[in-house]
Amino acid sequence: MEPMKLSIEPGDITTIRVDAVVNAANSELRVGGGVDAAIHRVGGPAILSETRRIRIDQYPDGLPAGRAVATTAGDLPARWVIHTVGPVYSAREDRSHVLESCYRESLRLAASLGAASVAFPAISAGVYGWPIDDAARIAVGTADALAEEVGRVVREVVFVPFGEDAVAAFTRALAGLRRFPRD
Ligand code: APR
Repeated sequence: MEPMKLSIEPGDITTIRVDAVVNAANSELRVGGGVDAAIHRVGGPAILSETRRIRIDQYPDGLPAGRAVATTAGDLPARWVIHTVGPVYSAREDRSHVLESCYRESLRLAASLGAASVAFPAISAGVYGWPIDDAARIAVGTADALAEEVGRVVREVVFVPFGEDAVAAFTRALAGLRRFPRD
């Protein structure tokens, strides 16, 4: 079997055709800004009504950073939105393990749903302030490390960098992978 493919498709994640789109959500699972706003705007109200139910039934205190839950993708060209909460960047405290957990838990959830393709934004690299080079390195490295565990189901992981700096960062991060190129 071919190894799990890692690729880059710059631009707006709401236009990408994949089985599961990952959202950089907040712990309250309310509509925020950035990629979260775009996903709710294009996906429509069905997404918010499912996140409300998840809050009530499973996470009354909010979804902790590093965890992931799935909803319908509504009107997006995907089947599911996987909502994960990134850590707020801190220069004093290393929260990399939480950011790694976002990618790991999202990919595990995607595999459990049967998603063959998953698109990720640069989690925590916007409002939450994570430096883009480091965010991209963690994203690519963590997905690659999960290839063996989820790769039978998840055949392709698409990173969706938004803006020039993010494209450069993800390109460098992919080039830095030991197993690259792999398509
Ligand atoms: N497609 C892809 N990437 C996007 C899009 C889009 N349509 N819009 C923004 N981005 C990029 C940003 O440029 C950034 O690199 O997504 C990355 C993550 O940025 P944010 O969306 O700000 O997410 P994050 O830093 O994890 O902060 C999460 O922001 O909007 C709120 O509800 C959200 O409170 C939560 C917080």
